[in-house]
Amino acid sequence: MIERSKTVMNDLVAAIRNVMLKHEITNEELRFAVKYLKETANTEFELELMMENFFEITTAHVTNNKNSGSASNIAGPFFLEDAPDIGSEGEIKTLEEGEHLPIVIRGQIKDLAGKPISGVKLDVWHSTPRGTYSGVHEGIPSEYYRAKLTTDEMGYYKVRTTKPVPYQIPDNGNTGRLLKSMGRHAWRPAHVHFKARKPGLQEHITQVYFNGEDYVDSDCCEAVIDELVIPFVEENGEQVIIKNFVLDAA
Ligand code: DHB
Ligand code: FE
Repeated sequence: MIERSKTVMNDLVAAIRNVMLKHEITNEELRFAVKYLKETANTEFELELMMENFFEITTAHVTNNKNSGSASNIAGPFFLEDAPDIGSEGEIKTLEEGEHLPIVIRGQIKDLAGKPISGVKLDVWHSTPRGTYSGVHEGIPSEYYRAKLTTDEMGYYKVRTTKPVPYQIPDNGNTGRLLKSMGRHAWRPAHVHFKARKPGLQEHITQVYFNGEDYVDSDCCEAVIDELVIPFVEENGEQVIIKNFVLDAA
């Protein structure tokens, strides 16, 4: 660990110095940056937000570079452990408010050898039709917009829910100001989160995005990976997202 710290931190300092030299950073600008970071750290959740916004996706890329299964993606801050258990097939509790396009998300989970995996615990969570998260934001209890599925004997799962909408990360603080100064907005495209777990397999955290929709090409978290952008297909009059998983061994 000390060796790792030595290697990584020397590289990190060198990388920052290169940027400073390239852009002729002045002492005043360095002091401004320190003040900005200090203010960020002194504001609740702001440093977490900033680091997650800019760097969580990079940890997913590190995982993806080592793995051969499906692409991992950022977890975001809104996973909750105790979502309602609904077996291999069921419904996510939703509210009858706002626009709520019903959708189906279904798929199959396999291992690297192509063998279906039963008994995978698959958490699914996403925003309300207002772009908020249950159990986190005001007025929406945690048993809504989340579920824990378990794949059947052939690795299948299927869940009915409503389509999430784009999500704006808090943009009134230093993270929002930083994004703005970079010429960027604070929106994420509509997305659905997944966490797949079974002993013997790597915990797999990912998301899906919807083909052709707002912000897919300009996610503030830069987390959109082509493989995770999925088109709707119509099956028996329902709008269906098919998300299959190939999971790496632990
Ligand atoms: C944030 C929120 C999300 O729903 C997400 O998927 C990623 C990041 C955030 O607020 O930082
Ligand atoms: Fe999210």
